[in-house]
Parts: sequence; C-alpha cells; structure tokens
Amino acid sequence: MENLLYNDIERVLITEKELADKVKELGEAISKDYRDEKVLMVCILRGSIVFFSDLIRSINADIVIDTMSVSSYGAGSATTGKVRIIKDLDSDIMNMNVIIVEDIIDSGNTMNNLTNMLSTRKPKSLKIVSLLDKPSRREVEIEGDYVGFTIPDEFVVGYGLDYAERYRGLKDICVLAPRIYKK
Ligand code: IMP
Ligand code: MG
Repeated sequence: MENLLYNDIERVLITEKELADKVKELGEAISKDYRDEKVLMVCILRGSIVFFSDLIRSINADIVIDTMSVSSYGAGSATTGKVRIIKDLDSDIMNMNVIIVEDIIDSGNTMNNLTNMLSTRKPKSLKIVSLLDKPSRREVEIEGDYVGFTIPDEFVVGYGLDYAERYRGLKDICVLAPRIYKK
C-alpha cells in the first residue's frame, strides 16, 4: 500500500490478483466464442483502458481494436441520464462482430443508449463485456454478455476507474472513502 492515494481508500474490494484471474477467465470465454471469427474490441474511454489492455492480451482470437469516448457523468459521482458521444469509432462496424469493453454498468443508461445507437450501423453481432456490474442501481433493462464481478452499491475507483479523473492508476478496485466525495 505504498501509493499515497490509498489514504483516500476505505477498503480494497477486488485485489490485483483477483482481477488478473477474472480477466483471464473472461478472455478464455471470449476466445472460445469467437474462435473462428474476426472481432472488433471497442475500448470505452477512459475507464476501460486498463481492463481493455489486459483483456485483449488474454484473448486468443483474430481481434482488431478501436476506441470510443462517451459520457454520462460529469466530474462528480451522480448520473445525468443521457449519453454523449465525445469520440466516435474510427471503424465501420457494418457486418463486424463487435464487443464493447466497459468498466462498469451502473444505471445501465450508457450501455443501453450506446448499444441502441451502434445497432443502427448493422454490425454482424454486438456484445458487451463489463468488468463490473452494479445491478442494484439499474434504471433500464440491460445486462453485460460477459461480466467480471457483481458489486454492491458503493463508489469504486482504481484499475482504470476514476473519481473526478483521479485514482485510475491504483492496481486494485477500491471503495473510495465517502469523505472524499462528500467534501
Ligand atoms: P451508467 O450509465 O449509469 O451505467 O454509468 C456507467 C458509467 O458511470 C461507467 O462507465 C463509469 O464511467 C461510471 N461509473 C458508474 N459507477 C462508477 C463507480 O463506482 N466508480 C467509477 N465510475 C463509475
Ligand atoms: Mg465509463
């Protein structure tokens, strides 16, 4: 715990080791499902970048990658509802197998709006892999096709996830001390 940012952490929820094991498991499941297929892995910036970089190295299939940036949150921790596209895909996804790589499904609004929008571009298939899932917070009916961990309704940071752009470099998934976002 030498990183000073850990002073702002209430507790570690998922360790570096548990994350590595789960990413390997998700990679194996995806490899099996797409064995003879080409697949476009879409990194949803910025929260997914750490998960994405580990996941693509655990997949044994013919993958290509792209990135997209969408926003449904401001600097704080409360949802605003609608998704906004900040950076669109560079690739044409028509007739492509597409897997969206997300850090966390919370209210579900981001993934619901995004999958609806991407479906209109006629991909061959469209799936979601989400490292984390907070089903108790859901406002719309949407599920990840591959989910790493179901977690309770607590605000988490680390392994790419942020609070006001901070804490993304922590190696574990951590529950942020409420005093940090309540001040
Ligand atoms: P949704 O549209 O409510 O499902 O929000 C999904 C997005 O909110 C995620 O991609 C995250 O960027 C952000 N988010 C939701 N919960 C957390 C959390 O506990 N920590 C950090 N970011 C979160
Ligand atoms: Mg996100």
